[in-house]
Amino acid sequence: MRAIEISAPGGPDVLRPCERPTPEPGPGELLIAVQASGVNRPDVLQRKGLYPMPPGVSDLPGLEIAGTVAGGAADDLAAAGLALGDAVCALVAGGGYAEFCVAPAGQCLPLPKGLNMVEAASLPETFFTVWQNVFQIAGLKAGETLLVQGGSSGIGVTAIQLAKAMGASVIVTAGSDDKCAACLALGADHAINYRTQDFAAEVKRLTGGSGADVVLDMVAGDYLAREIDCMADDGRLALIAVQGGVKAQIDAGLVLRKRLTITGSTLRPRSVAYKTVLARQLREQAWPLLESGRVKPVIHQVFPAARAAEAHALMESSTHVGKIVLTWD
Ligand SMILES: NC(=O)c1ccc[n+]([C@@H]2O[C@H](COP(=O)([O-])OP(=O)(O)OC[C@H]3O[C@@H](n4cnc5c(N)ncnc54)[C@H](OP(=O)(O)O)[C@@H]3O)[C@@H](O)[C@H]2O)c1
Repeated sequence: MRAIEISAPGGPDVLRPCERPTPEPGPGELLIAVQASGVNRPDVLQRKGLYPMPPGVSDLPGLEIAGTVAGGAADDLAAAGLALGDAVCALVAGGGYAEFCVAPAGQCLPLPKGLNMVEAASLPETFFTVWQNVFQIAGLKAGETLLVQGGSSGIGVTAIQLAKAMGASVIVTAGSDDKCAACLALGADHAINYRTQDFAAEVKRLTGGSGADVVLDMVAGDYLAREIDCMADDGRLALIAVQGGVKAQIDAGLVLRKRLTITGSTLRPRSVAYKTVLARQLREQAWPLLESGRVKPVIHQVFPAARAAEAHALMESSTHVGKIVLTWD
């Protein structure tokens, strides 16, 4: 099969088209004939040698795919309620930049009605991550305020739409006025250009001094102290990345006085059983929102898979809004 491999750690050009043996599905796994592969920032980190794959996982990058079921044991197909030829999208721990990929059956979801393969491939990584962090871990409720750092990211556009659909208010940060406008168009209540405004002061002003109930943070570093400053009593901060650095100096007294909860997580190494539960919840609660059009995939650009290096260069330029997707013809 054709695939895109990381020939050595480095810049986008180390992504090279290659031939690899088609993988064999093991127990509990399905073989997917891939039509589209989503690109995520963790793929960029893996390409740079900063995000090693978990043990036993393909060295090929790619955490999400859409395609048709091309193989699997009869009992695994039956347990997943799927048949050969069915259209699915799937969360995988690696190997997604390829014409064929194996996926745990429990991490395969049917294509939401009305969505095409490119749109479906853009969903799993951000939907699983946002669902887990914003709703499962931080417990965002209707009527509460969510602050999303990086509102125009793949993660951000999903967080804005899901949180609004669940009845929360959403404040985002983004690095340009155009990106702020894109976030508002997706339903965010307020967008703060973090390059020209102090987001902590703005969040306090916008919430009448009470602060954000939940923060989805992909920056960390010196953002942590500022987030703690603009969080509400009993606030929950879910940390998913450290783009701004791993060290932080915080006012621990404020954490006590506000009764804050600070959590961190990475999705990729979690067990199949854990991800299968998230998949069921997404199918029950998020898939209807996609099928009704209340929540929409946001596709910035599609590249033929052979041009994966250009897709990564675009992601690193950070000029995109939403998702970048590769296709296999
Ligand atoms: N823990 C997990 O399980 C998990 C899973 C998936 C993804 N992630 C992480 O989530 C992040 C987003 O992933 P993605 O695939 O959606 O990537 P992406 O589309 O490339 O988004 C990266 C975003 O980070 C924003 N950003 C960078 N510095 C910022 C700052 N100082 N303040 C506010 N925003 C800032 C960028 O905004 P501007 O361009 O406007 O500056 C951009 O929107 C990545 O860091 C990724 O590693 C974590």
